[in-house]
Amino acid sequence: MMKIKRINHIAIVVDDFESALTFWRDALGLEIQKVEEVPEQQVSIAFIPLGETEIELVKPTANDSGIYKYLQKHGPGMHHICLEVEDIEAVLASLRAKHIRLVDEEPLISKGGMKYAFIHPKSTHGVLVELYEQPTI
Ligand code: CO
Repeated sequence: MMKIKRINHIAIVVDDFESALTFWRDALGLEIQKVEEVPEQQVSIAFIPLGETEIELVKPTANDSGIYKYLQKHGPGMHHICLEVEDIEAVLASLRAKHIRLVDEEPLISKGGMKYAFIHPKSTHGVLVELYEQPTI
């Protein structure tokens, strides 16, 4: 049985953190917990914890990155929603069996050992959906 545990994060693409923070920090009173560089994706991420989940502000750090191109094309805004799952390989297999189009056929592994994969927005009614499996400790 496939198990979807929670919304791990919601990612929002921004031009720069300071201007985005006039809303998230100054108007809503939320706090950035940490900022992290992800060199392999050419982005910088500001994490804003919110209950069981977090808002992630994603900013391109290079002019040829995928996120930079996305920003040029669509402007700032919602980028993807991330669902945390128990067994990402099982979830991907189950989705494949249901003819759901995947961006990543196999999970990728982040520096922190997180397994992740994206589902194509063509199969999700226009929402880019990321799947995460936390490393088991
Ligand atoms: Co994400």
